[in-house]
Amino acid sequence: MSTHHSPQPLHFNAFVMNTTSHIHHGQWRRPDAGQTEFTDVNTWINLAQTLEAAKFDAMFFADVVGHYGDADADYSVYVNEGLQIPSNDPTVLLGALAVSTEHIGLATTSNVFQSHPFQFARQLSTLDHISGGRIAWNIVTGTQDNGSRNFGLPRLTDHAERYAWAAEYVDVTYKLWEGSWDEDAVVKDRDGSRYSDPAKVHKINHVGQRYSVEGPHLPPPSPQRTPLLYQAGSSASGRDFAARNAEAVFIIAANPEIARQQIEDTRRRAVEAGRAPEDIKFFQGLSFVIGETEEEAQRKLAEYEQYASVDGYLAHAALVDPEGRVYPPETPLKDLETNTQRGFSEWVSKAITDREPVVADIAWRSHRNNRIVGTPEQIADHLQEWQAAGVDGINVINWVIPGSFEEFADQVLPVLRERGLAQTEYTLGTLRQKLFGRDRLPHTHPAAQYRGAFADLEESVPAGV
Ligand SMILES: Cc1cc2nc3c(=O)[nH]c(=O)nc-3n(C[C@H](O)[C@H](O)[C@H](O)COP(=O)(O)O)c2cc1C
Repeated sequence: MSTHHSPQPLHFNAFVMNTTSHIHHGQWRRPDAGQTEFTDVNTWINLAQTLEAAKFDAMFFADVVGHYGDADADYSVYVNEGLQIPSNDPTVLLGALAVSTEHIGLATTSNVFQSHPFQFARQLSTLDHISGGRIAWNIVTGTQDNGSRNFGLPRLTDHAERYAWAAEYVDVTYKLWEGSWDEDAVVKDRDGSRYSDPAKVHKINHVGQRYSVEGPHLPPPSPQRTPLLYQAGSSASGRDFAARNAEAVFIIAANPEIARQQIEDTRRRAVEAGRAPEDIKFFQGLSFVIGETEEEAQRKLAEYEQYASVDGYLAHAALVDPEGRVYPPETPLKDLETNTQRGFSEWVSKAITDREPVVADIAWRSHRNNRIVGTPEQIADHLQEWQAAGVDGINVINWVIPGSFEEFADQVLPVLRERGLAQTEYTLGTLRQKLFGRDRLPHTHPAAQYRGAFADLEESVPAGV
């Protein structure tokens, strides 16, 4: 079931994190690495403007709320490496980026246990207002014991339970975003002394297993109402969640064939959930080593390799057993019984067929398999292969900020544009308008069931109070 017809422009997200060492560990030591200055808001404003000039679709901030690995063990490797600690909150940063840009999408990551859904829904509605509808939310369920303990949980909640939690969490936010305020509730009637019409502002009265939220939502409807929904789980339950909720799914498939399987499987699940296959766009994460010649690209690769931190990659990929202890790197993947990133290990196991895949392969895969080394023309050829496998967009993973994105914009995007593989202008309007040609979620999305759903449930509110 391939739904793609080339040539279609691919979408491009700049994958970043409000920290020093996000994915390519050790590179912060390069003299041209601007990510060491991540606390300086101008680092991000300048990058956002560079990306916007290059017509990137969105700037996508990853986030975690703790350190990886064994929560009871020494965590100095993460601190030494600057590996996602220290980090600043991406959601707050988006306010500054929204007022410094006009077109580019702004995506933040927020875990379902880090913030109450009422508070979180209000923050994202506010950002969607500030940005004119350019906000996306990457819905994550957590992978860390330490991150869970920072929010009062004893440890990372069980995998299936995390997705059940996420299901209730998004349900609360959908009710607030889609159902609480009617479209024409704000009247600004000066003569009649009515700012909003009480008959059109509804409590949601959500009572569930984990949350009880009365409403109404405090912000009025924002341009997108529900922000564009990103998700990145790749296990079976992660794909079910994505199939039901996500509009963009992030994958880090080891090759186009695996991407094709993952995409087709998630699209099939989306159809089962009553959605259209094209309601979800798939973004493959890749990094690029770009040279005018192959030799130059190889020289640059050797330089990146020199800075690469083996300790950093292994510490980032650390998988823990049911007691929270880190599995040694040589553990066969088939022996894993892990509650954390299941989807990753499943797909690595599929990618390695000539020997027994082990835990260390997960670290090497993120370093080696998902980079494309070559001239802009060779890179464009590779991207065409990913597109032919059903990929709609690329999450560009950086080595250094802003250099990796500047190179991509100056050298690769022009070649892609010649081939019709990258957009030349922004579509005006919201992020959802740019990606899907509509401002609001389609009626087949589960959030849409709440439109108008609360109007009859309440006592009529006296007007003019
Ligand atoms: C490209 C990509 C980006 C991700 N970004 C984050 C992130 O920023 N924060 C986070 O907590 N998890 C992140 N994850 C992890 C997933 O959201 C998910 O929790 C993880 O893959 C485990 O779910 P699964 O077992 O269904 O695969 C990311 C995963 C991928 C593939």
